[in-house]
Amino acid sequence: MASENYQLWGGCFEEEPSAVLARLNDSLPVDVRLFREDIQGSRAWANEQNLSGHLSNEDNKAIQEGLNKVEQDIAEEIAQNGRLKDTEEDIHAVVEKRLFKYAGDAALRLHTARSRNDQCATDAKLWMLASLPHLKTSLKELITVLVNRAKKEINIIAPGYTHLQRAQPVRWSHFLLSHVWALRDDVIRLEEQLSRLSRCPLGSGAIAGCALSIDRVRLARSLGFKDVTPNSMFGVASRDHFVEFFNWASLCGLHLSKLAEDLIIYSSKEFGFVRFSDQFSTGSSLMPQKRNPDGLELIRGAAGLLLGDAMAFSCILKGLPSTYNKDLQSDKELLFRSYDRLSDCLKVAIGTIATMQVSSENAQKALEPGMLATDLAHALVRKGVPFRKAHHIVGTVLRRASALGVDLQNLPHAEYYAICPEFGTEAELKSLFSWEASVEQYTSIGGTSRGAVNQQIDMLNQWLGVESFTTAC
Ligand code: ARG
Repeated sequence: MASENYQLWGGCFEEEPSAVLARLNDSLPVDVRLFREDIQGSRAWANEQNLSGHLSNEDNKAIQEGLNKVEQDIAEEIAQNGRLKDTEEDIHAVVEKRLFKYAGDAALRLHTARSRNDQCATDAKLWMLASLPHLKTSLKELITVLVNRAKKEINIIAPGYTHLQRAQPVRWSHFLLSHVWALRDDVIRLEEQLSRLSRCPLGSGAIAGCALSIDRVRLARSLGFKDVTPNSMFGVASRDHFVEFFNWASLCGLHLSKLAEDLIIYSSKEFGFVRFSDQFSTGSSLMPQKRNPDGLELIRGAAGLLLGDAMAFSCILKGLPSTYNKDLQSDKELLFRSYDRLSDCLKVAIGTIATMQVSSENAQKALEPGMLATDLAHALVRKGVPFRKAHHIVGTVLRRASALGVDLQNLPHAEYYAICPEFGTEAELKSLFSWEASVEQYTSIGGTSRGAVNQQIDMLNQWLGVESFTTAC
């Protein structure tokens, strides 16, 4: 071994790698985060070697006890210093070197028939299986906050916008739930990828499989995997679960970005529908009156960064030949970065939305009679007027109101009647100018009436299993 370091591969080398290559090559600062998974994989590997008759009970005992000590040491050092001082290139080398200190020669048997190729693939999968469910928990918590608000704020009616122009009145709750359904799909997509991810690559070796007879299914089960990867070349090379995760995270980021953008707009003085708590607002260094929604802006920006990571990783994979290539080492850097970013964004979204105030008065003030133009057309349709004609008639009404300088509600009944007698009596016409009556027309599934919104809330609560999430808003 040319190096002082515990190099896993130094046997036929006479010189040290150049410092600059070592710097580019070293992944320890990143993959140290996998130390528990690396040790977990090593425990299972040694046990399987033992069960299959390739490792004595004595050596297995030394390895298992040694690994416990290594885990403790590493955990303590990280807790104290935030990093490991080891100069080895990656976490696999660090664990093996440290094991030697405790287990002696038995440690030299641990890597039998194993490669860092199947080892690093296994470690990352174990980490993903343990960590991604936390994102699911946060997503469900965000959904719970939104559903609870929707339930409480069902009486609030606000303008609904298309093209960012006032379109039709909707229940505020309906707007909130429109975001929830997208987030719920994210939860379902995450569950689907977790089940695909749960195939253990350990036992794939470097490329060809395991040269010693082992029971890969037993090994996989001992690590909590549902299944094994069915081909060793696929096992060491496939990073499809990373691609799925990055693309999933960017879609989730897009959903959060849209929600953030809506709320940012609604928090401006021009709208004033929502006000964020001090905890989730920031100020300006110059303008004392400013109250900025930085958290939501960062969420909106994070969506771009998540997309960037997804694109970056697919670019890394594009053009790679089969099996393990060092390009793949970047998978973990991107994984941790995207995961941490999304996790923080979800927590900020939860806090911001749980603590924001909604102004039903300002939402109400932003409603204007022009938003009932569609209702006027529907009133004519109910009297038998074909919709296209009704649309045109209401257009004429709007022109007349504009010519007289009044809004739809203040245009005299006689004017309506002159344009189209199907507008009916003054009382009939007057009854159309009610926000409540307007939203209550939309009773079919997915509509904005109280009943249809409550139906959504019921469905979501049922799906959430209600009592498991307690975040109050
Ligand atoms: N640090 C490497 C990674 O994370 C470990 C695998 C190294 N394998 C190899 N054949 N050089 O990808």
